[in-house]
Amino acid sequence: MQISDTMTAALNDQITMELQAAHNYLAMGAWLESAGFSGMSAWMQAQSVEETTHAMKFYQFVLDRGGRVKIGALDAPASEFESVANVFETSLAQERDVSAAINRLYALATDERDFAAVPLLDWFVTEQIEEEATVSQILDDLALADGGPQAMLFLDRELGARGGTE
Ligand code: FEO
Repeated sequence: MQISDTMTAALNDQITMELQAAHNYLAMGAWLESAGFSGMSAWMQAQSVEETTHAMKFYQFVLDRGGRVKIGALDAPASEFESVANVFETSLAQERDVSAAINRLYALATDERDFAAVPLLDWFVTEQIEEEATVSQILDDLALADGGPQAMLFLDRELGARGGTE
């Protein structure tokens, strides 16, 4: 079944949203590095790569289904943050917006009886649970650290040790 124009447009919006997320995470990483947190910066850079892979999953899906990929314009990301916690709060808000967008895509696929999109969207539903949980945990850890230099150093090292991306 060829993909509908409505579904294609919605997936193209999602490609742009994932690329915007990648763009935003790069800016967050740059701010963190400048603030002295090179481990957290590495975490954000890895997160940016991961967002690009998310965009590419949708990109390939649209092409495989015979749709036309149209990538939208990106906004300049915020480059100033109030604090390390503020960076991760911004990340969590972004992840929640992405989760809501994935849910809307799922609802659209169901309305259109586009069951070919369901396995892909299932993957993203699960991924978003993980993304939100990970950032929430980092925010909890930051609250516990309360800006203490030893705890912040530990957290920076821990986040810098982040493994591969998907
Ligand atoms: Fe691709 Fe972090 O949402």
